[in-house]
Amino acid sequence: MNPFDRKNFNYLTRRAHSLQDRALDRFSGRRNLVIAMTIPILLTACDVPGPEARRQALHLPPPGFKGIVEKGIEPFEKYCMVCHGVKGRGTDQGPPLIDRVYRPDHHADLSFHIAVRDGVKSHHWRHGDMQPIPLITPEETEHIVAYIREEQRRVGIE
Ligand code: HEC
Repeated sequence: MNPFDRKNFNYLTRRAHSLQDRALDRFSGRRNLVIAMTIPILLTACDVPGPEARRQALHLPPPGFKGIVEKGIEPFEKYCMVCHGVKGRGTDQGPPLIDRVYRPDHHADLSFHIAVRDGVKSHHWRHGDMQPIPLITPEETEHIVAYIREEQRRVGIE
């Protein structure tokens, strides 16, 4: 069971609270009191998923990871070019990523990570939806972003 799923989390929280109540009811010994008092502390620690869990859930590379233009070419050609075209110039299957609509302040780097993790419902163009691309790693996506940003700058999209 995934403890970060809200339903499961609520269930686990309720279970832990009832264990805590039972421990408090049953024992008044010092050791058991310590155990009973520790449970809420553990619960608080579990409350918020840690930065590592959030990073993985968002499909992001580790903090400080920098995409490298040259390393983006291969994964782009392997996973994206069929729709987004040679050097991201678009095809009839997908829009050009070298377009002002995808400039950094309108589609931040995060939107690329979300696009490969979740896919994209058609909203800007008429090519249909983009499916998620589960095989790609967050690091590869970051390299692709570096490559696409470089191609955008080349034609004056900043
Ligand atoms: C099967 C075709 C297809 C493939 C493969 C594909 N895309 Fe897309 N992608 C699309 C289409 C179609 C859209 C446009 C949806 C719209 O806005 O109408 C899109 C949109 C996007 C967007 C815009 C997201 C947004 O928030 O509007 C990004 C970023 C993107 N793709 C990145 C990628 C990357 C990176 C890859 C490769 C890892 C990739 N795509 C592979 C079809 C594809």
